[in-house]
Amino acid sequence: MRRKLAAGNWKMNGLAAALEQIEAMAPAASGDTEVLICPPATLLAQAAALKGDIAIGGQDCHANASGAHTGDISAPMLKDAGASYVILGHSERRTDHDEHDDEIRAKTRAAWDAGLTAVVCVGESLAEREASNTLDIIGGQLAGSIPDGATGHNLVVAYEPIWAIGTGKVPTTDQIGEVHDFMRARLEKRFGEGVGRSVRLLYGGSVKPGNAAEIFAVSNVDGALVGGASLKAADFVPIIEALS
Ligand code: G3P
Repeated sequence: MRRKLAAGNWKMNGLAAALEQIEAMAPAASGDTEVLICPPATLLAQAAALKGDIAIGGQDCHANASGAHTGDISAPMLKDAGASYVILGHSERRTDHDEHDDEIRAKTRAAWDAGLTAVVCVGESLAEREASNTLDIIGGQLAGSIPDGATGHNLVVAYEPIWAIGTGKVPTTDQIGEVHDFMRARLEKRFGEGVGRSVRLLYGGSVKPGNAAEIFAVSNVDGALVGGASLKAADFVPIIEALS
């Protein structure tokens, strides 16, 4: 039985005053659905110190545990600040920081070494979808970004079509289902049925209170990775509730 997961990726948003939004979300996190917020690194420790059952995660980590890497944050540092998750390979990292699968695989290994659960993101561009290459792209990213040794505890995979992120455009439920079923089959083939069935698969891209229930009804969708609509409790709580 996979526990549902409502994850919020705050990206580069949020000053200290935004912590009150996490406090306002806390009551919704007491049910069967796990709730995760990934705030900017500046708020990690304060967010983790808040009372309640909300898990806290980073948005990236370096592949090394320490060293001369100005501006970077290591997985043990995230863990030390109170994080239990880290998002890796988000399309904004792949684009803005030219991250490729091999680097994401190394970061995932570093996250596991530090005891963090990695939320590995995959997704196709609009051009790739229009060229009917979606499953090839997703298959390649899954194979390249996830190291050997995945389990249902250390890995979550988020399918985020790039063209749906922050655009208000959402794939059809058939399109989401096709990719999620494909990812499930690939994970079962590579890691064995038990592990493959236990890894949670999230959908991300313009999830809102108004479309969450429909998306969560799709097979092999175990939750969502939410950007804009996770910033305010008024938007995120109904999404959490739609999963419950
Ligand atoms: O990681 C979450 C994400 O990229 C989706 O963002 O704003 O479309 O929900 P948004």
